[in-house]
Amino acid sequence: MVAHSYTVAFEGTEAREVDVQCALSGGLPAFQVVGLPDKAVAESRERVRAALSGLGLSLPSRRIVINLAPADLPKAGSHFDLPIALSLLAAMEVIPADECARYVAMGELTLDARLNPVVGALPAAVAAASLEKGLICPAQSGPEAALVGELEILAPPCLLSLLNHFSGKAPLTPPEPARPEDAPPGRVDLAQVKGHEMARRALEVAAAGGHNLIMVGPPGAGKSMLAKCLPGLLPPLSAREALEVSMIASVAGDLRSGKVSRQRPFRDPAPGASHAALTGGGRGALPGEVSRAHNGVLFLDELPEFSSRVLESLRQPLETGEVTVARADAHVTYPARVQLVAAMNPCRCGWLSDAARACGRAPNCARDYQARISGPLLDRIDIRLDLPLVSIAEMAAAPTGEASAVVARRVARARARQVARYGPAGPRCNAEAGPQYLEDVSELPEPARALLQLAADKLNLTGRGVTRVMRVARTIADLAGEERIARGHLAEALSYRQSIGAR
Ligand SMILES: Nc1ncnc2c1ncn2[C@@H]1O[C@H](COP(=O)(O)OP(=O)(O)OP(=O)(O)O)[C@@H](O)[C@H]1O
Ligand SMILES: [Mg+2]
Repeated sequence: MVAHSYTVAFEGTEAREVDVQCALSGGLPAFQVVGLPDKAVAESRERVRAALSGLGLSLPSRRIVINLAPADLPKAGSHFDLPIALSLLAAMEVIPADECARYVAMGELTLDARLNPVVGALPAAVAAASLEKGLICPAQSGPEAALVGELEILAPPCLLSLLNHFSGKAPLTPPEPARPEDAPPGRVDLAQVKGHEMARRALEVAAAGGHNLIMVGPPGAGKSMLAKCLPGLLPPLSAREALEVSMIASVAGDLRSGKVSRQRPFRDPAPGASHAALTGGGRGALPGEVSRAHNGVLFLDELPEFSSRVLESLRQPLETGEVTVARADAHVTYPARVQLVAAMNPCRCGWLSDAARACGRAPNCARDYQARISGPLLDRIDIRLDLPLVSIAEMAAAPTGEASAVVARRVARARARQVARYGPAGPRCNAEAGPQYLEDVSELPEPARALLQLAADKLNLTGRGVTRVMRVARTIADLAGEERIARGHLAEALSYRQSIGAR
């Protein structure tokens, strides 16, 4: 007889069904796992053997073959322990085979038969629901899986409590869904920023249209502080976006605490981050920072300190909203739709604009330093901001500015106008709108057109440059609640397009 249990194998955030078959046959006693298992899966045998003997169950002295079908799909991870154990227990007639086949199971066994949490419980629950099965997962992964409603979930802490559930001795209670988390620590409210009127406005425009932003300024000007304000200005995640974010967090193992958030992700990788850390890859082809920031903000502080290879690898996700990670045996694609915020000093010493403090190599060092950022990357950044130092006297004199919540309300209104204009199938915000969604230059009122013509000549704007200026101008008009782009909106958009470190 062949017994079955079911589990999933991950390809990115996609979970594909795997049929775990167990056959007991005559011959010399052996225990074999076939069907493209990786090392962790192959080692399952030892954990399963020890866990069963801990429960007083010895393996049958027959030939045990576990087949993971489809056989050509690579199986990676330690979550195969539980389905292997279940299919074996069903073959041994310890648990009812038909009950076992009603679930997708995942979990890592310890030698004393406890169940350790595993990554990917959320995508596994989504897959189980679409297969019209229940899910069995470790107790600690239960709250994460329970985010998918209308699904029967068994979340036992150990194999014994699962067996007691199946025998009817001690039925398990379903886990509670994870509670949404309050604002994660480390975020800054705009009310704490003194002065910087230009920067506050630019941040509002960036938030309202989803535009990429770069800030250039001397050390201590408040660049990092301003960047940390951005998530608080963005609208909360929609239900669909929250699920996408949680799926990536689940596969990356970030949801282990069981906490999910409706706040947009904010990721700030260190400048020394490797290519794999940023775009994904390494063991298990895990998602990188650019995917963990999906639907949120990717903050690259000290931008020129990132290696050029790492920076260039961001061009694909910034263009397509997806990133492809190469694995030894396959390619995995993760979503990576991010708003990029970058910060940098204008030169290595940082004091280019202050002759008294600048090093002897100014202004040549600035050219070398800024040249580390390639034109194509810079071209994807719509808003460029020079940030001067705010003196202590200015800070003391500055009135308390608006709080993030006040600005966020204006941002939400501007975003609502964009959603209404583009519809559900169109771009989600102005930063994603192609030329076909924007007003044609010929539709601009005469003073605005004349200004754009003048600026195009002076700033050497290409056609693509004009589209980018129009996108930002569209956002500024949306913030003002205007249907048409006017000269003032264009003038402000053009002011954000200066070359970096220009002042
Ligand atoms: N305009 C400001 N209002 C209030 N606090 C400020 C302002 N500018 C700087 N600060 C204070 O200075 C600290 C340093 O600022 P921040 O780290 O953002 O500077 P930075 O521009 O990122 O500098 P670096 O180039 O060294 O990274 C902030 O944590 C904040 O306490
Ligand atoms: Mg900083």
